[in-house]
Amino acid sequence: MLTAAILSNRIPRLIQCGIVGLSMALMILPPRVSAQGAKPTREQVLRHLDKMRETQPGMWNIAPSEGEYLSNLVQKLKAQRVLEIGTSNGYSAIWLALGLPETSQLITLEINRRRYSLAQNNFEATGIDGLIDSRLADALEEVPKLEGPFDLVFLDADKQDYGKYLEMVLPKVSSGGVIAAHNVTDMASQLQDFLATIQTHPELRTEIVAVGPSGLSISYKKGPPTP
Ligand SMILES: C[S@@+](CC[C@H](N)C(=O)[O-])C[C@H]1O[C@@H](n2cnc3c(N)ncnc32)[C@H](O)[C@@H]1O
Repeated sequence: MLTAAILSNRIPRLIQCGIVGLSMALMILPPRVSAQGAKPTREQVLRHLDKMRETQPGMWNIAPSEGEYLSNLVQKLKAQRVLEIGTSNGYSAIWLALGLPETSQLITLEINRRRYSLAQNNFEATGIDGLIDSRLADALEEVPKLEGPFDLVFLDADKQDYGKYLEMVLPKVSSGGVIAAHNVTDMASQLQDFLATIQTHPELRTEIVAVGPSGLSISYKKGPPTP
């Protein structure tokens, strides 16, 4: 009907241009999830994750069982905003993003340019890049600049800095949200102070889960859920 009206010149020229322009923009705009093409299937993303493990060694990635656990946790929390400290090649970030709804966002921070670029390529290859704000930055400088709230923060950078990250992110985590940390079992000797803090902190309820070989700490922030 609209086309007929345009063709018959019953609509002024300026409005016609607006309608045509808007229609073209809607056709050209990329979908929310991917800057590349259609929304990828879960199977496609899982296949790419497998390929990353085979072809990109030495990236200190979490185990697939830990990735699946974190992805499920994101879903369980109905997380809208997630922060990851320590991207490496993006393996854990892709697992986290798999659990996110399309309207949400994962910010992930990496200090090493080569691993940051590799991660960018992996995010694009999975087609999940539209959900991920990947930043080449020193997390110790970047985190204080970030605005909360975050529903989940995943710590997986240098172990000696976990205590500093905890202090920085705790005020930015929503009540009912989680601060998760990797390597709390296999690198426990380097994390004594951090472990003591998360297990005794009055604002946190912490459990250690052994879903993989390294140990994950899951610290829930107490208090009523943030509206
Ligand atoms: C264990 S790897 C992360 C692995 C990744 N989470 C995964 O499972 O796929 C740790 C990463 O943290 C990065 N890193 C260390 N210190 C950092 C800092 N201050 N800011 C940002 N990234 C940092 C390292 O360069 C390294 O790539």
